[in-house]
Amino acid sequence: MSAKRESIGRTVTVAFLVCLVCSVVVSTAAVSLRPAQIQNALLDKQRNILSIAGLLQPGVSIEEQFANITPRLVDLRSGRFSDEHDALTFDAQRAASDPDLSKRLADGDDIANIRRREHFTTVYMVESSDGGIETLILPIYGAGLWSTLYGFIALEGDLNTIVGLGFYQHAETPGLGGEVDNPNWKQQWEGNLVFDEDGNVATRVVKGGVDRGSPQADYAVDGLAGATLTARGVEDLVRFWMGEQGFRPFLNNLSDGEA
Ligand SMILES: Cc1cc2nc3c(=O)[nH]c(=O)nc-3n(C[C@H](O)[C@H](O)[C@H](O)COP(=O)(O)O)c2cc1C
Repeated sequence: MSAKRESIGRTVTVAFLVCLVCSVVVSTAAVSLRPAQIQNALLDKQRNILSIAGLLQPGVSIEEQFANITPRLVDLRSGRFSDEHDALTFDAQRAASDPDLSKRLADGDDIANIRRREHFTTVYMVESSDGGIETLILPIYGAGLWSTLYGFIALEGDLNTIVGLGFYQHAETPGLGGEVDNPNWKQQWEGNLVFDEDGNVATRVVKGGVDRGSPQADYAVDGLAGATLTARGVEDLVRFWMGEQGFRPFLNNLSDGEA
């Protein structure tokens, strides 16, 4: 090749064209894969809901299984069902940072450390054959040590017994706070009660382990060794969402048949 053909101008032009082609390829891939990413995130959330509600069947499509679950929008201010937004598509996570769709929590109320609470959220119900509620699945979230943990708690039709609890999104340390995903730990929530006989939220995550003979055993799970801060975050977020600033008014209305 002649020296004439090699010049700084040509090198810069070739580098520019390579960058241009690469950026077009990357941005086309990002834009065209976006709908698939959104669909996969939705499927993952639905898979988690089914799993936490104890309904996940291997070998059956998530869409087919999720058809038995009814999403309903709840107005957390009134504790009643609402049709103000579409339950399926309402983005509660985004709403929580929108001043028009959320409220600032007073410091004393903000035990989950979330600062703002959305006005509306979507709950999921499995209805029994007589039209009652078999399982109620409620979204819950709150601060751990490094991240906000997003998950669900599923309650039996008595609106007190826990069917399951789990998180679908967090960034706690694997092996420490990440043990919230350990099936053995999650299993401890199953069958626990949320409210004590006086109607107070009695959930506890006990550092060092629950004394199985103690009266609190029905409401408590073991802490996470080396991850007390995440474990405390989970206790706090459950207490928040089961409390007056969370789903308590809705649960009261529901059990009175007035939701
Ligand atoms: C790199 C690193 C990551 C950690 N990640 C977590 C975590 O995800 N969750 C947590 O509660 N503690 C985590 N810890 C430990 C906390 O700093 C703290 O020591 C622990 O929560 C106290 O729990 P313990 O009393 O059971 O030991 C981490 C510590 C280090 C050094």
